[in-house]
Amino acid sequence: MAATAIRPGVPVVSAEVGYPDPVATPSFPPVVLRNGLDGVSIGRIQTFVPPGRALPPGTFDVGIGLKENARGKGYGREALALLTDWLFEHAAAEAVEASTDPANVAMRTVFRKAGWMPAGSLTEVGREWVMYRITRREWEAWRRQRKPPRP
Ligand SMILES: CC(C)(COP(=O)(O)OP(=O)(O)OC[C@H]1O[C@@H](n2cnc3c(N)ncnc32)[C@H](O)[C@@H]1OP(=O)(O)O)[C@@H](O)C(=O)NCCC(=O)NCCS
Repeated sequence: MAATAIRPGVPVVSAEVGYPDPVATPSFPPVVLRNGLDGVSIGRIQTFVPPGRALPPGTFDVGIGLKENARGKGYGREALALLTDWLFEHAAAEAVEASTDPANVAMRTVFRKAGWMPAGSLTEVGREWVMYRITRREWEAWRRQRKPPRP
């Protein structure tokens, strides 16, 4: 996954990964996120297959966790945007989704600012979760809006 600055002024999150076969393997090892300024590890992001909930081909579920001192600095949004781009560009994704605690305002803000939309709720491990999702068509529209096409 290439490192790209998404928001001016925010240090680039760099993430290096060598996925063996993204199309055949919807559950990738976690990507370690590093602060682009000094290379310090700030957390991880990954795709996974939720236990007991098979995903249709082309659908990826994402999980993210930042170290406490790295939160609230824009890294979450940047990392989610990078992985979302990577999955659509290189892993033949048709939809990328994730669930979070309804009270997790930071995560819900990050989803919204990365172009993801609320997609209902689900009950898993005895709790209610709110689901967010972005489809390929939505991502293409989001990307056009985010990066004007080159002349
Ligand atoms: C959730 C998480 C990934 C978000 O990443 P982050 O880098 O901290 O988030 P960002 O700094 O990119 O953005 C957070 C946004 O939410 C807003 N926010 C955070 N807490 C908020 C609150 N209580 N009320 C309102 N807005 C809030 C911030 O102001 C920011 O908005 P902005 O972009 O307009 O400034 C990170 O905080 C984390 O790892 N938390 C612990 C683990 C976790 O919850 N993982 C997700 C499980 S699904």
